[in-house]
Amino acid sequence: MKVLLIGGGGREHALGWKILQSPLVSELVSAPGNPGLASLGRCVAVDAEDVPALVALAQDERPNLVVVGPEVPLTKGLVDRLHELGIAVFGPFAKAAQLEGSKAFTKAFCTRHDIPTAGYRTVQSLEEARAYLQTLIPPFVLKADGLAAGKGVVIAKDLREATEAAKEMLSGQFGAASKTLVIEEFLHGIEASFFALSDGKSVLPLMAAQDHKRAFDGDQGPNTGGMGAFSPVPQMDDTMTKEVMDKIINPTIKGMNAEGMPFGGVLFAGLMIGPDGPKLIEYNVRFGDPECQVLMMRLQSDLVPLLQACVSGDLENLTPPVWKNEACATVVLAAKGYPGGYEKNLPITLPVMDATDQTTQVFHAGTKQGPDNQLLSNGGRVLAVTALGPTIKEAAAACYRQITRIDFPGGFYRRDIGVKD
Ligand code: AMP
Ligand code: GLY
Repeated sequence: MKVLLIGGGGREHALGWKILQSPLVSELVSAPGNPGLASLGRCVAVDAEDVPALVALAQDERPNLVVVGPEVPLTKGLVDRLHELGIAVFGPFAKAAQLEGSKAFTKAFCTRHDIPTAGYRTVQSLEEARAYLQTLIPPFVLKADGLAAGKGVVIAKDLREATEAAKEMLSGQFGAASKTLVIEEFLHGIEASFFALSDGKSVLPLMAAQDHKRAFDGDQGPNTGGMGAFSPVPQMDDTMTKEVMDKIINPTIKGMNAEGMPFGGVLFAGLMIGPDGPKLIEYNVRFGDPECQVLMMRLQSDLVPLLQACVSGDLENLTPPVWKNEACATVVLAAKGYPGGYEKNLPITLPVMDATDQTTQVFHAGTKQGPDNQLLSNGGRVLAVTALGPTIKEAAAACYRQITRIDFPGGFYRRDIGVKD
């Protein structure tokens, strides 16, 4: 079968790498893809956020399955459009994608369905923001309601900083996405990213991974899309996983179905495991990046039947996937300056890679092919070096050994991924 993969980040390279290992798949086409995906199949230069162009591409390519990596085309209704055309597509409809697209929607949904999350208030004016902030204990958490490319969350240490942040956001810092703010109580504990598949009715838990969101070692510096990850997460044992399924994931899938917005695809719960058990920080409606890289490398089973079952509604009849016992880590190489301003077109030299290697991979994210076959950087997060090992620490050590073989003078990476397990 032929698979059309939408996106061109490290997440999509990892998905494409795993999808192409399926004996069911003979062809992989990516839009827009990246040089890593180009080594696995054809890449077509269509922007992953241009829904009409993606629909036209799918009509042209006639794939047996479309897999949507990033959130923007999901919230813009790509799945709805393809579904209307009878094209099989993995990912939620726009209404269900609101779980990521609107934080205010998700908080209200959690209240309706008794899903544990931080106490909050939705505000649209500075007066409302001030009044609620005064009832909270610092630090303060302020979030733009809509999508802000992972940058719409501010943690402010005092009232002055929080008020300033509220003022900037409400006056259009993130355009329409920050016209409404969610202000919420600060949660303490250990963060984990938990993933589950759903076909709208049934749920199949996948696995947890731990992201490293801050730019610099020791969880210092600004928040990023993620600078590294590992899996499994020691705190997410069977008991905790059951609690997360019972209190958070299952009520969500049931509630979305009951409200006429069945969720099909992969549900990504950002969790805080604290003293009163797990609480939901946020939902995403897609795989995490870089969490996907470690999940794909740990997944022993064929990914494609799992994705297909989410589309066909047969998830209930599927046996749970098998995971490798080894741990996996991924370390992101980013362009110096990320998540702030950074240069593009910086030269990179990689060691020779073997796509059949199941233990170490360098997944491409923001890269492009320059003149004379020179690989160049083309984004903030550039590569994700991913490796298996008997423990998290050994998996991370294998990543760092691989990094020494990469020449990327314009890049930087965290040196402490997986050291704190
Ligand atoms: P989000 O985009 O909602 O995942 O938020 C980005 C990051 O901000 C999270 O990964 C947490 O590290 C932090 N964060 C968000 N909400 C809270 C909260 N209520 N309490 C503590 N930290 C939070
Ligand atoms: N790494 C977090 C995310 O993909 O949103």
